[in-house]
Amino acid sequence: MNLPKAYERTEADQTVEVSMTINGSPVTMSLPARITLSDALRDHLGLTGTHVGCEHGICGMCTVLVDGEAARACLLFAVQLDGAEITTVEGLGRPDDLHPLQEAFGHHHGLQCGFCTPGFLMSSYDLLEHQPDVKREDLPAELSGVLCRCTGYRNIIDAVHDVAETYREGIPAPGNCGHRTLVGRSPAGSSGAAGVDDDSVVEPDAEPRPEEIALPSGEPTIQIDVTKDLTASPEDVARVFADVRLLARCLPGAELTDELGDNWYRGRARIALGPVRLSFNGIAHVLDQSADRIAMNAQGKDKGGGGAQAGIVMTASPSAAGTTLRAEASVFLTGRIAGFGRSLAGDVSRRMFEDFARAVDQVASGAEPDGVTSQPPSAVAIVVAALADRARDLMKRTRNRTRKYREAHRRNR
Ligand code: FES
Ligand code: FES
Repeated sequence: MNLPKAYERTEADQTVEVSMTINGSPVTMSLPARITLSDALRDHLGLTGTHVGCEHGICGMCTVLVDGEAARACLLFAVQLDGAEITTVEGLGRPDDLHPLQEAFGHHHGLQCGFCTPGFLMSSYDLLEHQPDVKREDLPAELSGVLCRCTGYRNIIDAVHDVAETYREGIPAPGNCGHRTLVGRSPAGSSGAAGVDDDSVVEPDAEPRPEEIALPSGEPTIQIDVTKDLTASPEDVARVFADVRLLARCLPGAELTDELGDNWYRGRARIALGPVRLSFNGIAHVLDQSADRIAMNAQGKDKGGGGAQAGIVMTASPSAAGTTLRAEASVFLTGRIAGFGRSLAGDVSRRMFEDFARAVDQVASGAEPDGVTSQPPSAVAIVVAALADRARDLMKRTRNRTRKYREAHRRNR
């Protein structure tokens, strides 16, 4: 029996080949079965116009057209959509020839931060296509499937009503389909570029050395900028900076498995968060390496379809106590690891950096780093430490508020 792909059994680390037509362009992707349509669009095809808010089907930010009907991209697995026609907000209009809905949202100022706008555009397109005679008084209820947190509803209603009045005979079709709208980019851990107008195949499992690690241009999931004072001298830290193998040994859970030449390295990193164990296989490219600075791009993916890309710069500068180590990193997460939430993932990353800095201090001073290398960092320790940090912050804020309140109360007596 030929089962549809969505109903065939696949293991978590298996990929399924899925073909769709997206904004008029055919594309084939090899995707883990658990990838949602919104993640496939954003992370594998670079179509980041489809926004993701709640990932629970509530906010409507991720609305796209699937075979001409509005659908929540966060609630569909990409493998369910083999053969489907998808239209995203990128397909609606071109920068030099916007769709009337886009024009109207601009004209009526139907947006503030713009986060909900793609969802509203696609949802209102679907509404006007199916109900061109919709009445103004029905618009609030008809558009209630998308939430705007900036309270821009009145202007949004004005914009949609304006277009409805102008196009009672039928709203113009999306104007950017069939053009080269897919901005292909490598998903984290993959070397393949996404298809454009042809039948390209994205192969997330292929791990040949890419030409370069291209980081996404958008906002990173986590931005890290932390400094730590080390007791080791700048000269000793420079010795660690000069040896990528030594440096990798300082990172909890990381292991360098291969040197690929020309400053390219292959490795793995493991992290356990509660019951979730992530094991990233990845690749790193050292872009710049000197006695006091090392810059690299890295990317990896875990078997469950999670991906991480990072641009990392570490600098060492002399300090009264020895050396100040600073790490700046832009981290882009996709898949299930992104589901931990930015804030907790950020806390965990910062905590890992502190462990790393401590290990660099030990190695630079000639000692063996304690409890490092290929063991995954302790889930409980990291999360508990991160939560303890938060609890301390909260108590501090509460104490400050109480003190301010008492002072104000005293002044007013
Ligand atoms: S992200 Fe899909 S409904 Fe909120
Ligand atoms: S304009 Fe900001 S969420 Fe709607």
